[in-house]
Amino acid sequence: MLSPTPPAPSALRPLLNIASYDEGLYARVDDERDDVDLEVIGALPEGLRGAFVQANPNPRFPPPGPSHWFDGDGMVHGVSITDGRASYHNRYVQTAGLQADLEAGRALRAGIMCPFAPGDPMPDKDTANTDLVWHGGKLLALWWLGGQPYRLALPTLDTVGPEDFGGTLGGGLAAHPKVDPRTGELIFFDYNPYRRPFLEVGVVSAAGVCTARAEVETPAPSLFHDIAITDQYTILLDLPMVWEPERLARGQRRVRFHHERPGRIGLMPRHGGEVRWFEIPACYVYHTVNAWEGVEEDGSPTVTLLACRIDDPIPRVLHKDEPEIPRLEFLRLHPFLYRWTLNLRTGAVRGEQLDDVPTEFPRMNNDRLGVRTKRAWHPRIAKAPTLQFDGLIAYDTDSGVGQHHTYGEGQRGGETVFAPRPGATTEDDGWVLTFVNDLREQRTELRVFDAQDVTAGPIARVRLPRRVPMGFHSHWAPALA
Ligand SMILES: [Fe+2]
Repeated sequence: MLSPTPPAPSALRPLLNIASYDEGLYARVDDERDDVDLEVIGALPEGLRGAFVQANPNPRFPPPGPSHWFDGDGMVHGVSITDGRASYHNRYVQTAGLQADLEAGRALRAGIMCPFAPGDPMPDKDTANTDLVWHGGKLLALWWLGGQPYRLALPTLDTVGPEDFGGTLGGGLAAHPKVDPRTGELIFFDYNPYRRPFLEVGVVSAAGVCTARAEVETPAPSLFHDIAITDQYTILLDLPMVWEPERLARGQRRVRFHHERPGRIGLMPRHGGEVRWFEIPACYVYHTVNAWEGVEEDGSPTVTLLACRIDDPIPRVLHKDEPEIPRLEFLRLHPFLYRWTLNLRTGAVRGEQLDDVPTEFPRMNNDRLGVRTKRAWHPRIAKAPTLQFDGLIAYDTDSGVGQHHTYGEGQRGGETVFAPRPGATTEDDGWVLTFVNDLREQRTELRVFDAQDVTAGPIARVRLPRRVPMGFHSHWAPALA
């Protein structure tokens, strides 16, 4: 079926007054580089072998209308480390959308701030710009709307091609799948606000075959962004931040947060079955930390979910009235570490905010994903009009007590990824890695911290030959392919 013709660029008008994402921290870069034997200040630890990779939006062509940070073509930046030496590579993800733009010599589709042709089954360009996952020896680039995974080569980050798991995937696969370290399975969701079902959930086996894929009935196209897993369950977050169907039918994207509506946490048996929903007060969650199964003192089975929770994700006041709370256009970013405990016997839910410092992009030791953990590393959100991280926090997630490290004056970091020490027996035995920008010198460093003592500052600083723009999600690929 032919897609409806998108509106001509001259017909595009912004739905809101929006900022530029091509300046300062966010400014794109134009070249693809390969730099070896990078300068290292300090010493890269023995045992740290693999690749730190980050997915960024980086528009290849000027957008044909007002743009959002979320719109840019996917570009992956990576630092590969072996035997104490580091190299840097960056590449565009060669998506079908980018290929079409390259053939046309311009960006063919407008971004999410612009209207689209009503009835277009997928009006957005699948950019693979959001997240990366290492599964079964493959590095995959993913998009926040359920898109096509693309496999990348290491260390160069060249695009190998689309990955459909031998033809078994049967649809899209959104950012933020989870790899169960015990079974090797990739547990994923696929999300599309433009048609029913809005949400599908599935599993790819350790051998790389999609073995389960099921529709999940939801009443409205909620803005799904992340899931969590336990040994038995896939945890779904159906929260009252919703794409408005009437607007979508008119070719306009608008997200509304329904303060008056409860949200739902769903437990779905991993390989399929009925979802059991637990009602919670209205809130929004972009990213989970971890989840696990347990038992209350009275013997009731429980599921605990840790996440960064936002009480009020769509602004209800003017930005000038709260200028220190960051925004990304229509999104207000003021999240805090939070714990829900679901009682599977009574259906009761207990919610507890664990800290009062705003953080996002939380990470933990992925070797412990789905089982009880007590540690997490979070970028700390700076008081600024846009999203910026001015330090990192190593959390005791039982108590909410955090050890802080603040980057230097004028420096801003990215996601804080954990890399385990080979043979580690405790969950925090390893390193935390993040890109840190210093805009005054237009260069980026990969900083490496001892995960057990981030307050001591970085133990190694890898000097990159260029600035890496503020990006989305980072990942640690533990071995070079
Ligand atoms: Fe995300």
